[in-house]
Amino acid sequence: MRFKDKVALVTGGAQGLGQAICERFASEGAVVIAADINEDKAKATAKEIGEKYGVTTLGLGLDVTDDFAVHTAMEDIDGNFGRLDILIANAGILKAGEITMFPVSEWRQVIEVNLVGYMICAKHACQIMQRQKSGVIIQINSKSGKKGSFRNSAYAASKFGGIGLTQSLALEMAQFGVRVNAVCPGNLLDGTLWQDSLFEQYAHTQGISVEDVRRKYMDQVPLGRGCTYDDVTNAVAFIASDEASYMTGQAINITGGQEMR
Ligand SMILES: NC(=O)c1ccc[n+]([C@@H]2O[C@H](COP(=O)([O-])OP(=O)(O)OC[C@H]3O[C@@H](n4cnc5c(N)ncnc54)[C@H](O)[C@@H]3O)[C@@H](O)[C@H]2O)c1
Repeated sequence: MRFKDKVALVTGGAQGLGQAICERFASEGAVVIAADINEDKAKATAKEIGEKYGVTTLGLGLDVTDDFAVHTAMEDIDGNFGRLDILIANAGILKAGEITMFPVSEWRQVIEVNLVGYMICAKHACQIMQRQKSGVIIQINSKSGKKGSFRNSAYAASKFGGIGLTQSLALEMAQFGVRVNAVCPGNLLDGTLWQDSLFEQYAHTQGISVEDVRRKYMDQVPLGRGCTYDDVTNAVAFIASDEASYMTGQAINITGGQEMR
């Protein structure tokens, strides 16, 4: 129960990795707020997790790119719970495509959600955490934040930017006792994003079958398997805990050895 009564906000918490992170914090005693552009799913996830673990949860409809909405949500959280201990900036989208054909509007949208959305959430969380003189921010980045990604320029650019933002916030917030880190997972091949969209998108953009996409991405991993939600939530829980109190400004790979820098 490392997070007993800590208040944790997880963006993109309705499904996928965000949902798994919400569940992990709830299982260790935290008050969990699942915020997602999909309001119905965020509320359903929060309710389910609250009942399962007997902790207070809240499901919120929130678009991380909407500065005013994020500001209002943070004020509500501060008003209701009196604090914010943990922000997990997890909301993200991926649109793949060849650069010569990439619609600029879609490229901008990926940057807007993955990078600007992270900045907006961090900005308002930092206002609370600065006052508290404590807090932890963790961005869910990607191995594509460390190395270019084939026909996936918008996503890689957004995630590289996220590491620059993470390091800069870590420098700025250290004096307030606030730690800011990122985690860089490998491919969550059995997760929602891959199952609902990426296998199809990559098969299309790379001109290979869905089975070949799976084989290709498994073959790139020295430990020989895809990343799991537990692989990521174990690292997130550690970094959010006091056991990691000397860690800030880091971007930790969780890639089965695929990325080593
Ligand atoms: N799936 C992978 O293989 C993988 C690998 C590395 C990193 N990641 C990162 O993990 C994070 C979670 O991805 P996932 O695999 O769970 O994907 P997902 O698509 O299953 O979940 C993303 C969630 O974010 C929400 N969201 C999207 N736009 C939003 C917005 N503007 N405001 C608020 N919520 C919004 C979606 O509604 C969804 O619930 C992302 O940042 C992604 O880049 C995923």
